[in-house]
Amino acid sequence: MIGSRPALPRPAIYALILLFIVGFLLAPLPTARAAEADDAATAMRLADLLRSARTVISRNQDLINDPSVGDKDLGGEKVLQEALVLLQERTGEDPRGTDPESREGRLLRAQMEAIVAVMDENQTTINARDVGFKGFIPAVFARLVNERFAEKVGNEARVKVTAPERLVRNRKARPDDWETSVIEDDFSRPDWPKGTPFSEVTEASGREAFRILVPEYYAPSCLSCHGEPAGEVDITGYPKEGGHEGDLGAAISVILFK
Ligand code: HEC
Repeated sequence: MIGSRPALPRPAIYALILLFIVGFLLAPLPTARAAEADDAATAMRLADLLRSARTVISRNQDLINDPSVGDKDLGGEKVLQEALVLLQERTGEDPRGTDPESREGRLLRAQMEAIVAVMDENQTTINARDVGFKGFIPAVFARLVNERFAEKVGNEARVKVTAPERLVRNRKARPDDWETSVIEDDFSRPDWPKGTPFSEVTEASGREAFRILVPEYYAPSCLSCHGEPAGEVDITGYPKEGGHEGDLGAAISVILFK
């Protein structure tokens, strides 16, 4: 009897059909992809506002460190307004325009309130006369803002500034396992496009969450503290890390719980 022979043995065809069906079932639905894109946009807005506020502190560092000036006029509202101007220049966005009832609007408002609160709470330190370096630097400011943000909305979202493990100064900033794996397996690859964030729907604190990590690199202004010679104590009392301009020095980590 002459029958037609399949080009592939029958079990292989069945396996292919099965693979196709399983692949189809497992492929994320378009709505899931859209939700992920929304999450990514919200998370990047939080990262961008934090960065702008941090830049305002950085631009005012000489003033903050000036022992001859008492009142520096760097209250919470003023710093927030400057951060919003900068944010608008950088991204064209204004978080005040978001819907306060939406998750994004709520989170951005909580972050704006955190910025104002941290500045207002640190007026005595900032305005101290006859003290030069006061320890109020962008990294400390950002950490305080993120802590305050977590007090308000930590059940919904978290923002943290971390770094490769060996560079971390404050143990509160230590990367968790997910952050370390992204830093080591993705950001450290020679072909990773500089500045590109990594995001994933995964777990955080035992809950399903959207996570994103945004890499940042040392600029010349960082090196007085984080640069060469490694081990030399900087103005803040920490040993310098021996970093160079362009090295991966930081990562902003945002979690949005599902
Ligand atoms: C005046 C010294 C100084 C400068 C300049 C400086 N840093 Fe830092 N940095 C510190 C100190 C001190 C801490 C620890 C802050 C804390 O207690 O949370 C820190 C913390 C950090 C952290 C958080 C993780 C950790 O180690 O605790 C990152 C990331 C970071 N710095 C990156 C940078 C980058 C990037 C720049 C330049 C844009 C920069 N720093 C400029 C002193 C400095």
